[in-house]
Amino acid sequence: MSKTICHSIIAGLLLAVAATRGADLSTVKFLGASSCASSGCHGGGGLKQNQFLVWSVKDFHSQRPTATLTTARAKQIAEALEIKDPTTDARCTTCHAPLHDVAEHLRGENFKVSEGVSCESCHGAAENWLRSHTRHDYTRADLTVAGMRDLQNLYVRANTCVACHQVVSQPLLKAGHPELIFELDGQSVAEPKHWSAEKNDNGAQTWLVGQAVALRELIWQMTREHPMTDHAQRMTETNLLERISALSWLLHKATGEQLSPTTLMEDFESYQRNADKLAQEKSAAAWSEQMTHDCLTGLAALAPDFLDQKIPVSMHARRAERLVLALDRLLAAENNHQADAELNQLFKLAQSIPDFDAKQFSAALEKFSAALK
Ligand code: HEC
Ligand code: HEC
Ligand code: HEC
Repeated sequence: MSKTICHSIIAGLLLAVAATRGADLSTVKFLGASSCASSGCHGGGGLKQNQFLVWSVKDFHSQRPTATLTTARAKQIAEALEIKDPTTDARCTTCHAPLHDVAEHLRGENFKVSEGVSCESCHGAAENWLRSHTRHDYTRADLTVAGMRDLQNLYVRANTCVACHQVVSQPLLKAGHPELIFELDGQSVAEPKHWSAEKNDNGAQTWLVGQAVALRELIWQMTREHPMTDHAQRMTETNLLERISALSWLLHKATGEQLSPTTLMEDFESYQRNADKLAQEKSAAAWSEQMTHDCLTGLAALAPDFLDQKIPVSMHARRAERLVLALDRLLAAENNHQADAELNQLFKLAQSIPDFDAKQFSAALEKFSAALK
C-alpha cells in the first residue's frame, strides 16, 4: 500500500458515534413485542396492522440471529475466543440477541429476552412513547424526543441498521466470524417489509447514505481498536485500512467529495466527521433521477482505475467489492435491465478477494459500461 494512502487514513481520535446510540436508553424500559401486538394495533391481519405477523413469521430478525448462536460454527468462533456460551456472552448477544443486554430493572412485564432483534431494537425502547405514539397531536419530533426513532429518515435508519451490520471487531474476525458489509438499500429491500409499499424510498439515495455511514463506522473501528498513539499497530491492520480506503474511493467517485484528509495523524477525526456529514447531507437532499443516472454512468466509467499498477491488487479487490454493490443498487433504482448479464459477470469476478484479477475486472467493467449505452 502506498505511503500516502496509509497516511491519509491513519490518524485520529476516538469520536463517540453519538448518532448511532440514539436516545439515552439507560433509564427507559423495553416493553416487548407483544406490547405492540394486540389485534387493534400491530398484531392484526390487515395490511396496515400486520407488522407483528410479518416480523414474527417472515423476518429473519425474529428467530435467526439468536438461533445462529447455537450452531456449530458459532461454537467454533466462541471456542477460539474462549467464550463459554455464545448465547449469553455480550460479545455475541449485542447483535444476535440484543435484548439480553437490557438490564433487569428495564424489562417491562411482557419483555422476553428470546425475541431476537425485536421491534424496540430498531424503533427504540417504548416505555415513553407506547401510549403517545398514536396521538394525532404528537409530531415526529415529539416522538423522537420520547425515544422513538424516526426510521423514515434515511440517516437515522442507516445508523440503526449499521450498528449490527458493519463493524465486527478484529478478534471476532480472526476467530472466524464472517466479515460484514453494510449496504442499506439492498439490505432494506431484502428485509420483508412490514411498512407500506407506497413509501418508496429512492434506492440510489438510500445506497449512498448507507455507504457514507459505513465508512464512518470503519474509521471509528480503527480509532477505537487502536488509539492515536498506536500508530505502528494501525499500520499493520492492512485489511481494515484497505476497506476504509476503498470505500472512500467509491464515495469520492460518486460524489466528488474528498473525504480523507491528505495530511497526517491529526486529521483522522475530520475524516470520520466528513463521512458523517456526507451521510447527513445526502439524507436531507432532494434526489432526482438525473442524479442516479449521473452516478451510474460515472461509476461505470471507472475501468481505467483498475489498471493502476501502483495500487495493490488487494486494494483493487476491495474497491471492486463495493463498486459492484453500487452498480447493482443504481441499476435497480433506475429499473434498468440493460446490463444485467454484464453485472453478473462483475459480481463473479469480485467474489473472491484473494483471487481477484484487476485486469479482467477492468475489461468486464468496460463491457458493462458499453451495455449501458
Ligand atoms: C440489533 C442488531 C440488528 C439491527 C439493529 C439490525 N439487524 Fe439485520 N441482522 C442482525 C443479525 C444478527 C442478522 C444475522 C441473522 C443470522 O443469520 O443469524 C441480521 C440479518 C439481516 C439480514 C439478512 C442477512 C444479510 O445480511 O443479508 C438483512 C437483509 C438485515 N439484517 C437487514 C437489516 C436492516 C435493513 C436493518 C435496519 C432497518 C437491520 N437489519 C437492523 C442484526 C441486526
Ligand atoms: C456487530 C454485530 C455482530 C456481532 C457482535 C456478532 N455477530 Fe455474528 N453475525 C452478525 C451478522 C449481521 C451476521 C449475518 C451475516 C450475513 O448473513 O451476511 C452474522 C453472522 C454470524 C454467523 C454466520 C451465520 C451463517 O450465515 O452461517 C455466525 C456463526 C455468527 N454470526 C456467530 C457469532 C458469534 C459466535 C458471535 C460472538 C462471538 C457473533 N456472531 C457476534 C452480526 C454480529
Ligand atoms: C430490523 C429493524 C426493524 C424491526 C425489528 C422492526 N421494525 Fe418496524 N420499521 C422498520 C423500518 C426501517 C420501517 C420503515 C420506516 C418508514 O419508512 O417509516 C419500519 C416501519 C414500521 C411501521 C410503520 C408502518 C408504515 O406503513 O408506515 C410500524 C407500525 C412498525 N414498523 C412496527 C413494528 C413492529 C410492531 C415491530 C415488531 C413486531 C417492528 N416494527 C420491528 C424497522 C424495523
